[in-house]
Amino acid sequence: MEKTVFLIGFMGAGKTTLGKSAANALSWDFVDLDHFIEAEAGKTIREIFEQEGEKKFRETEREALKQIAHSTGRNRIVATGGGAPCFGDNMELINMLGISIYLRPTTATLYDRLRLQKAERPMIRAVEDTDLPAHIEMLLSKREPYYLKAHFVLESPKLNTRGLVSLIEETKV
Ligand code: S3P
Repeated sequence: MEKTVFLIGFMGAGKTTLGKSAANALSWDFVDLDHFIEAEAGKTIREIFEQEGEKKFRETEREALKQIAHSTGRNRIVATGGGAPCFGDNMELINMLGISIYLRPTTATLYDRLRLQKAERPMIRAVEDTDLPAHIEMLLSKREPYYLKAHFVLESPKLNTRGLVSLIEETKV
């Protein structure tokens, strides 16, 4: 049975970047949940939010989690969207389907990254730059209780490819 490691955490936490490089180092597959949804829908996440609304996006997201974990092939790392663990019992589902790792940078790091990448993110694109730090704090405080249900938390100074690969190897995931 193939193993699935889910990377969870806030937008800008590095789930895609670290997931890709760790999967490469381990010779595992890498799946980005947002890209998977976009490919299936033939639309961007932004278009799905605009045309079908967040509720429909969250339903699609939940189905995609199951589809990926049940697919055959090689072991895989899945980068989930920042909101995926925070709806319904998705976190329980994630923990049942595989091993979850919460990537937890500081709020300052999140802010530095997100300030530059607002446009493509429906959850923050309408937030003024000056309001962004408070908005991140607010959303993160709502979401962190879900993220903290992860099997493991990875934070500085181990929040890098080597740290992630070691965690996956040491824990014999
Ligand atoms: C979202 C995060 C995004 C994407 C969508 C909603 C969120 O993924 O799924 O825009 O609710 O935090 P990233 O965490 O990869 O940016």
